[in-house]
Amino acid sequence: MALRWTRDMETGFVPMDRDHREVVSGLQELLLALDQSDVAAVRASLRVAKARVVAHFAFEEQLMAEHRYQAAAEHREAHASFVRDVTRFEAEVVKKGLTEKFRLWAGGRLLLWFKFHITTHDMALARVLSPVGARPHRR
Ligand SMILES: [Fe+2]
Ligand SMILES: [Fe+2]
Repeated sequence: MALRWTRDMETGFVPMDRDHREVVSGLQELLLALDQSDVAAVRASLRVAKARVVAHFAFEEQLMAEHRYQAAAEHREAHASFVRDVTRFEAEVVKKGLTEKFRLWAGGRLLLWFKFHITTHDMALARVLSPVGARPHRR
């Protein structure tokens, strides 16, 4: 499965969209390394992508706190759950290499989760942060 930036992933809140594009490009590097079965590059790109994701989540959580965002707890839990998942698979690839389970996760759930999160939780947050500029969720 490939991941590319599509317009339905644009929230309309510029700093958030910029971060999301960076994460997507990090995940594309991970997929490329996976395609080439380059375990060292997979580990390195996963580490970079995770660092970007963690920094981005912290940014959104700060915005949620500043704006007293109503759905903050649920959104934070979605972030935490994603980071737990990434951490688990990061350990798996360090310990066991490029297993079928890892490949299925990195090429499937990881990408689907990220896109789903943007088009649901992040889109809702963007509507509060940038009510005029935020785009409606389109399928
Ligand atoms: Fe988020
Ligand atoms: Fe986000």
